[in-house]
Amino acid sequence: MDPRKFYNPEVFDITRNAVDHIGFGYGIHACAGQDLAKLEIHGLLTAWATQVESYRIGAVVPRLNNFTRPYESIEIADIKRV
Ligand code: HEM
Repeated sequence: MDPRKFYNPEVFDITRNAVDHIGFGYGIHACAGQDLAKLEIHGLLTAWATQVESYRIGAVVPRLNNFTRPYESIEIADIKRV
């Protein structure tokens, strides 16, 4: 994320108002699948929240990409089940 646009961009802040992010691109070539992508992540997180009480993000390995910021892996540690 761009620190000129978002304060403290590396920090996950659930109160952040990121409605004008460009994670799905913008304009005429904005992501055609973004509604599906949002539906999928909503379903995944809803299922996750019913089964997991808490967890910790461990090692995060970024993957080089000139366009987006994907991750090679994100370690989910100390999972406490409901
Ligand atoms: C979290 C998931 C996704 C992210 C972050 C994402 C991100 C993006 C971004 C940034 C673009 C703009 C590319 C550009 O400016 O040239 C794009 C375009 C596009 N995306 Fe996605 N995308 C996701 C999921 C999907 C899915 C699930 C589909 C289809 C089922 C999809 C289909 C497309 C298509 C067809 C375009 C090209 C639109 C055009 O050029 O008119 N995307 N996506």
